[in-house]
Amino acid sequence: MLQIREILDTMDYGPSPEAADVVTDWLAAHGRRFGHFIGGDFMRPAENGTFAVHDPATGAVLANVAQGSEADVDAAVAAAKAAFAGWSATPGHARARYLYALARLVQKRERFLSVLETLDNGKPIRESRDIDVPLVARHFYHHAGWAELVATEFPDQRPLGVCGQIIPWNFPLLMLAWKIAPALAAGNTVVLKPAEFTPLTALAFAEICQEAGLPKGVVNIVCGDGATGAALVRHPEVAKIAFTGSTEVGRAIRESTAGSGKKLSLELGGKSPFVVFEDADLDGAVEGVVDAIWFNAGQVCCAGARILVQEGVAERFYAKLKRRMATLRTGNPLDKSTDVGAIVAPVQLQRIRDLVRQGVAEGATLFQAGGDLPAEGCFFPPTLFTEVAPASTIAEVEIFGPVAVATTFRTPDEAVALANNTRYGLAASIWSENINVALDAAARIKAGVVWINATNLFDAGAGFGGYKESGFGREGGREGLAEYLAPVRTGNSVSTAEPTSPALSALPAEPRVAEGLPGIDRTAKLYIGGKQARPDGGYSFTVRDGAGAPLGLAGLGNRKDVRNAVEAAGKAGAWGTATAHNRAQVLYYLAENLSARAAEFAHRISAMTGAGTPEAAREVEAAVARIFFYAAWADKYDGRIHATRSRHVTLAMHEPFGIMGLVCPDEAPLLALVSLLMPAIAMGNRAVVVPSPVHPLAATDLYQVLDTSDVPPGVVNIVTGDRETLSKTLAEHHDVAALWYRGSRAGGAAVEKASASNLKTTWIDDGQSQDWFDPALAQGRAFLDRATQIKTVWVPYGE
Ligand code: NAI
Repeated sequence: MLQIREILDTMDYGPSPEAADVVTDWLAAHGRRFGHFIGGDFMRPAENGTFAVHDPATGAVLANVAQGSEADVDAAVAAAKAAFAGWSATPGHARARYLYALARLVQKRERFLSVLETLDNGKPIRESRDIDVPLVARHFYHHAGWAELVATEFPDQRPLGVCGQIIPWNFPLLMLAWKIAPALAAGNTVVLKPAEFTPLTALAFAEICQEAGLPKGVVNIVCGDGATGAALVRHPEVAKIAFTGSTEVGRAIRESTAGSGKKLSLELGGKSPFVVFEDADLDGAVEGVVDAIWFNAGQVCCAGARILVQEGVAERFYAKLKRRMATLRTGNPLDKSTDVGAIVAPVQLQRIRDLVRQGVAEGATLFQAGGDLPAEGCFFPPTLFTEVAPASTIAEVEIFGPVAVATTFRTPDEAVALANNTRYGLAASIWSENINVALDAAARIKAGVVWINATNLFDAGAGFGGYKESGFGREGGREGLAEYLAPVRTGNSVSTAEPTSPALSALPAEPRVAEGLPGIDRTAKLYIGGKQARPDGGYSFTVRDGAGAPLGLAGLGNRKDVRNAVEAAGKAGAWGTATAHNRAQVLYYLAENLSARAAEFAHRISAMTGAGTPEAAREVEAAVARIFFYAAWADKYDGRIHATRSRHVTLAMHEPFGIMGLVCPDEAPLLALVSLLMPAIAMGNRAVVVPSPVHPLAATDLYQVLDTSDVPPGVVNIVTGDRETLSKTLAEHHDVAALWYRGSRAGGAAVEKASASNLKTTWIDDGQSQDWFDPALAQGRAFLDRATQIKTVWVPYGE
């Protein structure tokens, strides 16, 4: 037994393990075997077999859990579908009472759930007890509130139906709460698949649902591996998939749901920068690194895994960090003084080891600490790599372990460039005592969440989610709730006719008058970087009038033209940082100039579509009004300040995507184009527009209006040609961050599939024609929402 004096001499901690009997009793009461939770009842582990769930700290088997088959998924979806009518019609207040009851019951079982989570996942009890489980309760409380308010706060929205939710192993119960709470608040029912390494807290939660008296079938839990997840993703009765996990699986889910009409949100991987400026509080920043990369042993999608430190303070900072690392304790997760627990499974440990070996081979300098590791179980010491080349594997790949990689920078510009030098964009942590420097970097770093002088802060009231290949959609806050709602169509009825794209016959662009085509006035070129451009292939296609007679020629754009247009758009980045007032002014000027040429445009529309002159004039007038509408919105589409629990001003800012592709429908060729283009550019995006291939000439006439309206070159680029060819190129282009497509159903499906390459945000219609004259359908906030992504910036206040 240590004497107090000895303890004071060494300042060593004694072991302080949390008792696990409450969990071992629970496991024993279930015979250490669990079936799925379907329709309010636990199933017996079925014929498809079971899999073993291990304690990663010891390797011991905790339980055997059913492996979900296709039939199990069918049964769970059927139960959720049967429950949907009743649950969605349950008044918001009654739904709120259930969510409140779930929150209360989670709180009552805090210790049990924390111990269970720690045993199943290997994370330190300090974290499961102080962070995960309290946040779970907070999430249900917060969404009890949303259940109460959703009908009045989202009056034109409805729940989606059955939501399939697939979660990873790093925050098993917390991810469950992030998924289930908003879905239920909005009136949906769910089938949730926990990760195969960590299903136990989800099963404990199923018991909580029973105890809360939640109507049967509202929450269903099907356990299993990726095959079970894939069956849920493919299920035709599932209206939405919400996924958190690896970017690779997210990409596969994007492909598999393409064209299915399922709503999708993806919260994927990251390699988040942790930027330390030379004026930062270095001791604070060191503690920040501890929370950024050794929290949950670095198995955190938004872990601050890439330390970028300003050159002048780098050595001092590394020295402080190494001293701090030496005090970290790695070991028994149930011990209350453990800082770094176990890695979730041997396969993940091996992956970390391999990547660290590679880092050493690539020449980075390795430092490890954390004391003696337990002889048994999956443990890896806190690890720091310095002198890491920005292009090396360990600087690029998500290691998902307790491994930080550090690089130096000289100037703020270089810091931002390095921070953005990644395919991911989940989070960033910025350390500086200079608020100007910090906020400037926050604005310029492309990430969905930015913490200033802090890291890994989460709250149910703030959105969380990524840019770029970190996925799309948000969880938490008002924006997270919106992911579980769809608009109630209140506008004029729409035609169900499937538009078909004509085959465009390529004609050489020169000579201008092609054989057998009398009366052609001119070949409309493409519009790229503020200039008219000949199509790269040198071909054009015939545009016909309403009666089918040739009316003119338009350039037949190809992949190269799209690439040129994207490049031109890339150079027009200043548009995104221009003031909203300036953008509004340009839009007003555009409306004025279009209005001045209304008769000419009406004539063109009438010739192309065969519409009568009054109808064509009405289209031009509606287009002018639409431009005014978005000019009005340009400086009024404000963000929000979320009320989070800590002392932060938590900003939810609307940021433009950058470069957007806009693929237009055939109906109302001018009005539809304007309806897509104006919200995009009003919000600061640059656009590559593909006009209707049937009626492209209203778009090409627009060049002159754009030229005379002070629209900077490259902000609007127009490429005419075959809709499907051009949209596929746009969908595959890595610099196009968002793509709206209006055309055929098959074309929409192809766009969604191709968009998986860089996980860009897409917005397709369902292949139905739409009434572009109807403001209820064709303009409004939905368009602005889709033209922006929300960046959550946590700005501290107080000392
Ligand atoms: P994963 O993406 O394979 O697993 C996440 C969830 O998806 C699990 O529930 C899994 O069963 C399910 N799943 C797997 N394949 C599926 C499919 N084809 N269709 C539907 N669902 C499927 O992640 P994994 O293999 O567990 O970890 C591998 C790497 O992924 C980690 O090293 C880490 O880099 C990253 N990861 C990132 C996470 C994040 O929060 N962003 C979470 C977990 C892993």
